[in-house]
Parts: sequence; C-alpha cells; structure tokens
Amino acid sequence: MFSMQNQWNSESEIECLIVGVYHPSTMLKGILPACNAAMNDDLIELIKSGDISTTKKAITTIPTLGKVKTKRIIFVGLGRESQLTEESWKEGVARAFRKVKDLRLSSITVDIDSLTGSSITFERAAALLGEVYMLSLYTFDGYKQSNKKSSSSIDQFNIISNENHQEIHNQLKKGFVYGKATNFARTLVNLPPNILTATTLSQYAEDLSKRYGFELEVLNKEEMQNLGMGALLAVNQGSVEPPAMIVLKYQGKPEWKDVIGLVGKGITYDTGGYSLKPRESMVGMKSDMGGAAAVLGAMEIIGELKPEQNVVAVIASTDNMVSATAMKPDDVITSLSGKTIEVLNTDAEGRLVLADAVTYAKHHGASYLVDIATLTGGVVVALGNEMTGVFTNNQSFLKQVQDASEKTGEPMWQLPITAKDRDRVKSSKIADLNNSPGRDGHAIMGAAFVGEFAEDTPWVHLDIAGTATVKKPSELQTYGGTGVMTKTLAQLVQDFKK
Ligand code: BES
Ligand code: ZN
Ligand code: ZN
Repeated sequence: MFSMQNQWNSESEIECLIVGVYHPSTMLKGILPACNAAMNDDLIELIKSGDISTTKKAITTIPTLGKVKTKRIIFVGLGRESQLTEESWKEGVARAFRKVKDLRLSSITVDIDSLTGSSITFERAAALLGEVYMLSLYTFDGYKQSNKKSSSSIDQFNIISNENHQEIHNQLKKGFVYGKATNFARTLVNLPPNILTATTLSQYAEDLSKRYGFELEVLNKEEMQNLGMGALLAVNQGSVEPPAMIVLKYQGKPEWKDVIGLVGKGITYDTGGYSLKPRESMVGMKSDMGGAAAVLGAMEIIGELKPEQNVVAVIASTDNMVSATAMKPDDVITSLSGKTIEVLNTDAEGRLVLADAVTYAKHHGASYLVDIATLTGGVVVALGNEMTGVFTNNQSFLKQVQDASEKTGEPMWQLPITAKDRDRVKSSKIADLNNSPGRDGHAIMGAAFVGEFAEDTPWVHLDIAGTATVKKPSELQTYGGTGVMTKTLAQLVQDFKK
C-alpha cells in the first residue's frame, strides 16, 4: 500500500507530488530547491507572483510539463512557520489529498521534508500524514448504487524523504492505524439501525476478537437475567431485538491487574421509549451507539499496536423502543449492582444501560474506568459540537485523559459534579436512585448517575452527544459519524501510568 523512496525515483514518472510551501518563498524546503533548479527558478517566480499561494491551507496545482519527474506538483500553503498549528497543517494536507481524489489519480507521493517545521517534526508529520490520509478520504456510501459511489481511487501512498526511513515507516503506520480505526467507528455510527442491531454490533466485536486474539464474552438475555442485569434488561424490554452485553479483554501485562475499563453506550436506536422523542429529535438517533463505536475503534488500535496494558472493554447494547412490554415512567428496576432505580423518564435510558455495564466492568477487574456515551442533549446546549463534555471523580486520572485528548486533537471540557448533584440523583422517594431529576444541569445529572455505579473506582465520563456526529462537513470529516474519542481512548491506554 505504501512505499518509501530516498530520492527522486528516476525510472518512472510520478502522477503527483504533494509538497508544503512556507511564507516567505526563500524558505523552500525538502525537494523544492531541486525542483526549482530543474525549472530554472520558475517555482520561486510563481511563489513570488502569488500564482503558487503560501497562504495557510491554500492549494495550488501546477503541471510541470516534463521538467521534473512528476506530472504535477500540488502545493499546500503553510503560512509563516512560526504561526503554523497542527490543526491547520492537517486541514491543508487533507485538502491536498482531496484534490488528488478529485483528479481521480491512483497514487499519492508526498515530500515529507517540505512539510516539517518548528512545530512539526518529521516523525509527527509522518504519523499525521497517515491519519489525515485515512480521515480526509473517508466516505460512507454503502447503499448507493455503484455509479454514484464517491469512494477514492487512490491505492498507492509514497513518501520521499532524506530522514530515517524506518522511523517514518513506523509513525506512518501508527497514523494509518489511528485513522483507520476512527473510520471503523464512523462506519458503525453511520450504519442504519435496521442493519446495526445489538446482535450485529457483537459480531463486529467478535471479528476484532478473532483478528487480535482478544478474549470475548457476549451475554445473551437469559444470562443477563441470571446475573440480574435489571437496568439493561428494562431498556430492552420493549424491543423485539435481543440485547447484548459485550466484553473484550486485552491482556498486555503478565498479571491481570491495573485494568483499564472502557465502557460504551451501545443504544442502536433511541426512540425515547414511552417518554417518546419529538419526531425531529428522533432522526439521527442511530448514532446513539457512538460510545460503543469509539470503544471498538480504540480496541482495534490496541489490537494493532499491542501496548503493555490491561484493558477490558464493556459495551451495553440494545435499542430503546415502544411496545406493550416496554418499561414505563414510574417503573422501579433493580440494577446489577443491587441499587434500585425509579425510572421517571424512559428517554434517560443511556445511564441505565451504563449502570450495568460499569458494574460489569468492575466484575471483570476494571480498576480504572472511562465510560463514553451520547448521553444528554444538555451537553450539546452547554458545550456545542466542538467539545466533548468530561466529568470525573478523580482529577489525576482525568489529567491522563486530558493529556491524551490534547495529543490526538480531540478537545474536551470539564463540567463539575458536586455533592449536591449527587444528592439529586438520589432524590427518589421509593428507590435508591432517580434516572431523571429534572432538566436543570441534566448533563451533570446523567454523569452523576453513572458515577454512583463507579463508586470509589477512579472514573472519567465522556458525554459525546454533541461531538459524535456532524451536520457540517469539513476537511477531515464528511457528513455523519465522527468516530470521536477513538484516538483519545487508545492514546490514554498507550500512555497510561498507574
Ligand atoms: N440519546 C439521548 C441523548 C442525545 C441527544 C444524543 C442529542 C445525541 C443528540 C439520550 O438518551 C437522551 O434522550 N437524553 C435525554 C435525557 C433526559 C430525558 C434527562 C436528553 O438529553 O434530553
Ligand atoms: Zn434517550
Ligand atoms: Zn440515548
């Protein structure tokens, strides 16, 4: 799929060469001085005249008319080196890749040295190239008849560099792995709910377990009944689709201790149940398994890169439907932990399935917990669509999650859980907990509820209701599922320190 070349490959002509170009034009890097010489200083002239733009994220394509060994050069404007950010670098490179796709070319050649700079080392550039390549070219058009498909025709990725090739190779591969896993999570989110059920979701987990040798457990309804998973079962009660509690174990240490539990909300469709959603808010609720998707995506990265950590992934999956058998507001249910819950709103179903999943992760030895869920509309009101909401009962564990999020460029913002918030989720008159103590601060209520099941275990809760999908596509992101936090969860596991 990808190859490395030390200098110009002199035998065959390249279809297109992607290079970075800084402002001012005296800053030509990588292969560009050689190209400029071969073109009798034409490149410098074109940059000076503005025909090749050095403006951040600007893309200029020029034909070389046989003067150098590439049919065309695609320039990515990088602006002034001192002002370059990773984000604008990624967006610029993504535009160049999309240009190659628009031109319907079948290979990409990148001069990596011209794309490095004071804030981007060549190792970092290599990792980001792999990631951006995967993310920017991703589309989901599985149900379009083939002539309408927009998938890419690119099947070759070449890098030109004078730097250490083994290191570039390793980093590039890591970038591909991170990007590909994020695309896997995106696809899971984009799959329609009649196709992606709890059963098919568990088949994806099974595929991963076979590919990477994870230990797999998928509990069926009867096993859940025997264990007393009353919260997940209550949500599934109105459905004809069987529920699934999916467990994947990855052991990267000699002993099964210091286990990181990754817990995902896997609601394959959320109608709201008897507390039915309005028709406009129901559309899109196939994405209510975005947490589960991120967990499976992270497990793919973990399977590929095999960090020296122990991880248990737990996904609670069902749809949330309406029928004569469905749970109702006013029902009281008993969770796996033994805690009883008064259901005041059947649309607050995510926290119910997470309750049992968090408890089950602890049964499997999780000593650190991260749960991830499209949990509340409240977090969208509070933080919008750029920031994931994050909550914790342990600031130092949160710091590790924040560090991972900074590395991967998936921003998050902490919201509080106070003692009074915890009292509110315990405000039921007839049960231990109340699943919906009112609209005020309800992203916090959702988090505080899940926290009751984490108890004293260091725990971080990610509410991705605002970030799991996009309505507005951008350079690295087509319409639909984002696969958000796939990278961050995997990075956390890779870097985790007790
Ligand atoms: N799946 C929704 C949350 C959601 C909202 C996800 C918007 C993605 C976009 C969740 O199950 C839900 O319905 N939450 C309720 C909670 C309320 C009833 C306490 C909400 O946010 O309104
Ligand atoms: Zn809901
Ligand atoms: Zn939901």
